[in-house]
Amino acid sequence: SNPKWERVKAAKEAAKGGGGPQRVAKQHEKGKLTARERLQVLFDPGSFREAGALVQHRCSDFGMDKQQYYGDGVVTGSGTVYGRPVFAFSQDFTVFGGSLSESHAAKICRLMDRAVEAGAPIVGLNDSGGARIQEGVMSLAGYADVFLRNVNASGVVPQLSLVMGPCAGGAVYSPALTDFTFMVRHTSYMFLTGPEVVKSVTMEEVSQEQLGGAATHTTKSGVAHGAFDNELDALAGMRELLSFLPPSNREQAPRVPSLDPADRSCPFLDYVVPTNDLEPYDMLGVVQQVVDDGEVFEIARDYAKNIITGFARLNGRTVGVVANQPAVLAGCLDIDASVKGARFVRFCDAFNIPLLTFVDVPGFLPGTAQEYGGVIRHGAKLLYAYAEATVPKLTVITRKAYGGAYDVMSSKHLRGDINLAWPTGEIAVMGSKGAVEILFRWAVLQEAEYEEKFNNPFQAAKVGYIDDVILPRWTRQRLCAELETLANKRAWRPERKHGNIPL
Ligand code: COA
Repeated sequence: SNPKWERVKAAKEAAKGGGGPQRVAKQHEKGKLTARERLQVLFDPGSFREAGALVQHRCSDFGMDKQQYYGDGVVTGSGTVYGRPVFAFSQDFTVFGGSLSESHAAKICRLMDRAVEAGAPIVGLNDSGGARIQEGVMSLAGYADVFLRNVNASGVVPQLSLVMGPCAGGAVYSPALTDFTFMVRHTSYMFLTGPEVVKSVTMEEVSQEQLGGAATHTTKSGVAHGAFDNELDALAGMRELLSFLPPSNREQAPRVPSLDPADRSCPFLDYVVPTNDLEPYDMLGVVQQVVDDGEVFEIARDYAKNIITGFARLNGRTVGVVANQPAVLAGCLDIDASVKGARFVRFCDAFNIPLLTFVDVPGFLPGTAQEYGGVIRHGAKLLYAYAEATVPKLTVITRKAYGGAYDVMSSKHLRGDINLAWPTGEIAVMGSKGAVEILFRWAVLQEAEYEEKFNNPFQAAKVGYIDDVILPRWTRQRLCAELETLANKRAWRPERKHGNIPL
């Protein structure tokens, strides 16, 4: 055998072993896969090709020159997911705790540069003890190099993060800059400062899990958009999300034909809106009736549940669904719902994904907590996002569309392409009760008049703000047909460096 080849083989074998069998066993004991095992699950079988497996760190301080591992704590490379190219990096906790060194960061940066040039998504699997302590400012510089690339790739290729272990300090900002972040329950956490520092500064006693676990970030903070029970589910979720997305902003999302007929009627929808105005119903059920095969991949399902955001398909084409949820807070918009919706709308617009909006909104949530929290500023984000979006915009008003919230929710006035209402639609400044209370001189007679005028979609249809009033059962058929017509829509946007969304 050729000794040169033997040497390469040995090095590659060593690289595969990460930080050695003991540390790998420790990783498995925690219910975690190794960096390479995770990539095997993420990518189509046999498709992953590694780049930079033989990279080593260049630090000689603190005896580091005697501690060398091939790969330097991160596995980088590309392969296919459902047959389409994807780039990924996967931090290897068994090598220096997956900590980020100069060389480790450089590998991630090279990967990101290649992905942007190739026009393919970037997936980051995070499992790291943070900045490589022995390298000092070199590792901090490495983080900033990655952040800069996250920002420059934003809106160019989809960037997805899956946090599968520790992610603390400055390390959190790379996932935070990406489009979607998923976490694994009980084995991953994200925070800027850990429980010990929190305790010494604010006297609060809090566990890692409470401070920055998956439950915290998918229900309280909104930092993460999906929580999964284990790593296999999380990686499968990542694959599913990728299946909905275009590879870059230069392309459309892939069309995934389904056996679900585009002209299917949905008779159940004729009965879904309760006759009593105050009674809730489940809007997710409505969306599921309308889209291909009833499949909705929800984003941030457990956060701001009064608004639903997620990906689905109509006649095989990806759509971004935004829907008020009357079953939670009566479907009111509040700070969290506005921010959740706005970010989702902007992602869809950046990546040529048409927006499908279902409206049943009684207005913005009243109260000091909301006003002091800046609901005006946050509500404006959703308004801004819809107004600037140039992708096809389809809107269905199922019941209430009241006040400013009517304007915000992809109305005709914000360049909605097709705005439909069901016969149960009510488009008004507010509900009849509230209107009569404010205009206190009004008698019962006027309440009836108000209801006659506004508790239906006719006034809006008369002036063309609603393109058509349709029977609920024909919603799918109509939307599929309209989307076909709009598939190549191009809309004008003024030239500028960038807008100034009210952050
Ligand atoms: N730099 C260099 N090495 C690191 C490291 C870092 N930031 N974080 C972890 N490691 C190394 C550890 O020295 C250990 O090495 P060993 O296998 O040779 O013993 C290995 O990674 C595993 O770490 P360990 O502490 O045993 O794992 P754990 O699961 O018990 O704890 C952390 C994980 C992340 C909580 C803990 O390692 C930690 O607090 N790290 C430092 C975090 C930090 O402050 N980073 C800088 C802020 S950006």
